[in-house]
Parts: sequence; C-alpha cells; structure tokens
Amino acid sequence: MNLSSAIQKKIFHIVSFSAQKIKQDSYVVGGYVRDFLLGKIKSKDVDILTIGEGIKLAQEVSKNMKPHPKIKIFRRFGTAMLKCENQKIEFVGSRKESYHFYSRKPFIRLGSLQDDQNRRDFTINALAISLNRDNYGELIDPFGGLSDLKKKILRTPLNSDITYSDDPLRMMRAIRFATQLQFTIEEYSFKSIQKNKNRINIVSTERIIEEFNKILLSEKPSIGLLLLYKSGLLSIILPELTLLKGIEKKNGCKHKDNFYHTLQVVDNISQVKTNSLWLRWAALLHDIGKAYTKNFTKIGWSFHAHEFVGSKMVPNIFQRLKLPKGGPMKYVKKMIQYSYKPIALIGNQISDSAIRRLLFDLGKDLEDLMKLCIADITTNNIEKRKQYQKNIYILMERIQKLEEKDRIQNWKSPISGNDIMKTFQIDPCKEIGIIKNFIKDSILEGKISNDFHSAYLFMLKKGEELGLKKK
Ligand code: CTP
Repeated sequence: MNLSSAIQKKIFHIVSFSAQKIKQDSYVVGGYVRDFLLGKIKSKDVDILTIGEGIKLAQEVSKNMKPHPKIKIFRRFGTAMLKCENQKIEFVGSRKESYHFYSRKPFIRLGSLQDDQNRRDFTINALAISLNRDNYGELIDPFGGLSDLKKKILRTPLNSDITYSDDPLRMMRAIRFATQLQFTIEEYSFKSIQKNKNRINIVSTERIIEEFNKILLSEKPSIGLLLLYKSGLLSIILPELTLLKGIEKKNGCKHKDNFYHTLQVVDNISQVKTNSLWLRWAALLHDIGKAYTKNFTKIGWSFHAHEFVGSKMVPNIFQRLKLPKGGPMKYVKKMIQYSYKPIALIGNQISDSAIRRLLFDLGKDLEDLMKLCIADITTNNIEKRKQYQKNIYILMERIQKLEEKDRIQNWKSPISGNDIMKTFQIDPCKEIGIIKNFIKDSILEGKISNDFHSAYLFMLKKGEELGLKKK
C-alpha cells in the first residue's frame, strides 16, 4: 500500500526504522487508515500502535528526527504524542482490555496486534497497516473492514452487545460515522444499540455532546437524528425533540409532524450555512415549544406563542447538556424567540418602525434569522413554497433598504449618558435611562432621524417633561 503524502511517508519510515531498532513491531491504525482508504486524508492525526511500549517507541522516534520533537507523555495511559511538521503522531502499546459494568474506563493489559484489533469499535476502524520491514505497507484486516468500507457498512468486530456495552459511547460513534460517511449500521449492530441504549447513562455528557455536535455539523444531520430517534437514544439525550413526533387529527383537520419538519429544517440550514454549530442548534430547537402549546381551536390547530415557550426552555437544555452558557445560549434563545417574527412582518401593511425594531433587536444576527426563516419553509406544495420564499425575499429587500437609510443594525445612541448629564448638570440617575430609551424608541418609530441634532432636541423635550432644566 502506498502511504500518503511526502511528510507522512517520511514519518512512517522513521517510525519503522525506530521500531526495528527497539525490536517492537509497529502499525498505523484507527481513523487514519480508514480515511486514507476512503481517499479522505488531509492532515489527519496519525495513530501508531506498537507491540510493546508506546512511550519507548515515541522516545526512539524523537531521537531519530531532526530537530528532535518534544514528546508529551501520558504515563497513566501508557501513551505518548509528538508533532512533526504540524502532523500529530500518537503512540500506543497494543492492549487487551476488560471493562467494569458501571464504567467505561477499562483495565488495560499488554496484548497482541489481534487483541488490539479485537477491542476496537468498528471493522472499518480495526484496520492496520504494517510498518515492519518484512511486510511494510501491508493491510492487516482480520474482520473484513476493507469490504465493509466498500459496502459502506458499520459493523463491530466482535459481538455488538459486548462492543457497545463495554463502551457505550460507541453507540453515539456508530451513529456519528453513519451520518458523516453516509454508511449503514448493520442490522444486528443497530438492534444492539436499541437494546443497550440505557448504557449511555454511564457516558459523560461532554462526550455524548461531542458526538452529537459532530452529527449536527455533518452534511445531512437528519441521517443521524433519525437514527438517534429510532435507536431510542434521542429520547434519553433530548426528549424535548421526540415530543414533537406525531400527527394528530381532529374534525378532519391535522397538523404536520413537527419532528420530521425539524429534521428537514436542520438539513436545509446545513445547506445554506455550513459549520455554524449554533445556528444548527437553533434550527434543531426552533419548534420545541410546540409540544407544550398545541391546541385545537375553531380555526384548527394552533401553537400559540410556541416561540416564546421554546426560547424559555433553552437555558435548561443548555445547562443539562453542558453546552456553553454565555453567547451561544443567548444566541439560540434569541433565534427561537424571534423565529416567527419575520413571517409576522410579511405584507405591505407592516410599518417601517416594526422592521426597524427587528433590526435593532437582532443586530448582526438578523441575517442568520432570515436564513432560519427560509430553512423553515418545508411545504411540499411547490406553489406555496415559492410564494413563501418570495415573501421573505421581499421582506429582506425592505430590511436592506431601511438599514441603508437608518443604520439601525449596529445602532449606538447619538446621545450618550454623558451628554445628558452635562446638558442638565445631573449626576447618574434613572432619568438618564428614561431619556435614552425615549430617544431610542423615537428613532425606531421613525419620529426623528438617527442623528445627533434630532436626538438632542428630543432629549431637551423629554428632560423638560421630567422636570430637568438645561444648564
Ligand atoms: N476507538 C474505539 N472506541 C472508541 C473510540 C475509539 O475503538 N470509543 C478506536 C477506533 O479504532 C478509532 C481509534 O480508536 O479508529 C481512534 O479514535 P478517535 O481518534 O477517537 O477516532 P477516529 O476513528 O480517528 O475518528 P475521528 O478522528 O473522525 O473521530
């Protein structure tokens, strides 16, 4: 097998030479081999497995490189890492593992290459390429991983129940790989995930979310979200989403399945804007309030104020899933709260001041909100879809024109608190806030233009009303 780029080839030769010197066989293993065989290698980390001590091999490799790279040693795990020309290389000794039922942390003992391949998660991740002199470049594939790569199948090397129960994070990894690579999880393996789903509870939230985010950031997240749903994992991780599943019919009137709708919206947003994790989270959660606001009225199904209810649910979800509390949480909350606003603003009868307010409230996030609105159009009726999209584009044009004229998006009050204090010779007090709000509202409502002179006159007017005098 012809191994990769010039740098990688050089690294592999040094590893091979070093391993031979200390009489330890060595192999390239894991994701590198998988992605290399898929033709996907760019500058991926390289995992080197050695039959013996990983740290010892790393030290020998460093000795044989010029300049000698620094080694990071993880003694507790018996592993080491070094960097060569920006390429990370990890060294690990071959291992045999056994697990406690209540933990995903294994007991580790030294083992053979076969032992090490046995303990890996999927056949496509259990491939090894030899770096030994007698069979350099040979692919060692005891479980038919290459054939699974070609057939686009995810299969565990050993009994799936053992593989998943030993390390339940692998259930998330199976679904993540199925989504990223668009592979199928073999039937028996998927049934095993369904059977073992509750074992996910021994995995830390951070690790679960790491995989979940990779699913969300993939090209077509709905593949993974659907697998998470079918496996039963989604109702453990994000029950708010599974509550959206189902269609109810009353008096011949039915509503759409908001779960499938959400999946479609997430896919749509993933096509519009790549790698914006938090916009994808916003799309994922944009309708969660619907499960709690569903109501059948004289005019049919309604989900009144679902955006408000949904946005209120965001802080708890973020806290539970250990997602970042600051900016990302506020952004997702805001996106959901305003998700229906542009639709409500469609039509000529809407005033400029309502649009100015939207520009003010959303600021630079308005572009993302409009993208979310377009992604939210999932009707199969082509005529309706075209009409909805056209309405949004018309609104976007109006927004753009108004922004060019009034510059609201990055709005800063033309009158500062200092200006007010100086004019009326007052110390900091609540009247300053009242005047500033009055000026802001007057600009957004179009009563005055967004400049210092107009704002100054309105400051004097409001000051007078509050009993203040210009000094
Ligand atoms: N592995 C495993 N079980 C896990 C995690 C990892 O068996 N829970 C094994 C797999 O053989 C995997 C290798 O360790 O290929 C390296 O793991 P990692 O670097 O996490 O993943 P990659 O397969 O390299 O894929 P990616 O970089 O896309 O996450």
